[in-house]
Amino acid sequence: MSGRFIVFDGVEAAGKSTQIPIIADWVRARHGEPLVTREPGGTPLAEQIRALTLADHDEVMPLEAELLMMFAARSVHLNNRVGPALDRGQWVLCDRFVDASYAYQGAGQGGFRHQIAWLEEQIVGHRQPECVFIFDLPVDTVIERVRQRRSMDRFDRSDIDFLQRVRDEYLARAATDTHRYCVINASQPVNQVSQTIVDHLEARFA
Ligand code: TMP
Repeated sequence: MSGRFIVFDGVEAAGKSTQIPIIADWVRARHGEPLVTREPGGTPLAEQIRALTLADHDEVMPLEAELLMMFAARSVHLNNRVGPALDRGQWVLCDRFVDASYAYQGAGQGGFRHQIAWLEEQIVGHRQPECVFIFDLPVDTVIERVRQRRSMDRFDRSDIDFLQRVRDEYLARAATDTHRYCVINASQPVNQVSQTIVDHLEARFA
């Protein structure tokens, strides 16, 4: 039996990292130990790519290099960690996946739609998540929350127009497939968000 591939994605500071452990507990009680992982990253090698990609550098990181690094990390992660877990029948809970590339490198940076689609076909192929929760917040709330964080990476310093394009892209992608995507109003209290996710998983995978 193949496991379930569940993704949590969306704008920054929307509470994904609070929700994922709560949902992992729910999965653990019903379907066994899940693999909880993230992108970019999720294996030692992919985490090294993450560190390189998100860090500030003294020289410019060309946008196409950034995109390729996201997909390089994704290839390592899918082959070495996610694929084997799904083959073992394990549920996989992944913090961000390919929608983030469309939102940030695509809509946010303003291009690459065809290149991303090609990379997705080559690298993700059939290993698509069955269910993607898009955590949604108004952009001014995102900015307020990001400013309250102690440390920021180079991806956290983006302007309001960039963040609006990112948010709009997530919502547009979610609207194309309401079976696979579930948009979460991340302004709600934590327990209400968890309940919405659990209700959705129960309805999908009862
Ligand atoms: P995180 O803060 O949710 O861990 O995500 C790290 C950053 O990486 C976040 O700003 C979004 C960005 N990112 C991309 O730009 N493209 C991608 O494909 C992925 C997976 C993440």
